[in-house]
Amino acid sequence: MVHPAPLDPVPDRWNGVDTYLTETLVAQDDALIASIASLAAEGMPEIEVAPLSGKFLHLLARLAGARRVLEIGTLGAYSTIWLARALPECGRVVTIEAEPRNAAVARRNLERAGVAGRVDVRAGRAADILPSLAGSEPFDLVFIDADKESNVLYLDWAARLGRSGAVIVVDNVVRSGHVVETDAGSQVDGVRAGLEMLRDDPRFEATALQTLDRKGWDGLAIALLV
Ligand code: DHB
Ligand code: MG
Repeated sequence: MVHPAPLDPVPDRWNGVDTYLTETLVAQDDALIASIASLAAEGMPEIEVAPLSGKFLHLLARLAGARRVLEIGTLGAYSTIWLARALPECGRVVTIEAEPRNAAVARRNLERAGVAGRVDVRAGRAADILPSLAGSEPFDLVFIDADKESNVLYLDWAARLGRSGAVIVVDNVVRSGHVVETDAGSQVDGVRAGLEMLRDDPRFEATALQTLDRKGWDGLAIALLV
């Protein structure tokens, strides 16, 4: 059997596929769309997860039967809305945002999405807030999507605060391919250190998936807390 040569992932083709898959599989309501629009309107970076990834997080939470979710890096709460909508009425997302202005935008977006009662937005540095969560009920899913330099610290807290069997997801582990470089700056160094921790620390069993979507070429690491 003759296999066709692999196609180069040219941007118009991958964007076309991203649009096709999103339109086919991901129904976004006005609140989700408004939360994306709020980023540009408020002068915030447009670095929310792609719709396909938002729904992926939502499905992971449902597959895990999650009731308690921890998110590090709220931005405008686009991913937070997807996660909150995966939870039962009694469920809770604790989401940490370092920038107070972003946290205010996130709260408005969560209100509009009808999930504000299920989400606790904590404004402040995650390094300061995470220790205060020790002793609370353990988390079933942790999504790490903040400053990449701190991924090792965040993974350590995810392991401490998650229950055995929890799902850990780390965003942005490919960074347009720069992850293979050892001299690509502090963010990539942080991503690589996090991936090495997922390999070496016996608390985790992990893999990673590359993503090619409207946000470019990146990827997600997915780990089980053993
Ligand atoms: C950046 C951060 C993100 O979380 C993301 O999804 C994309 C880009 C950044 O800091 O550049
Ligand atoms: Mg991200």
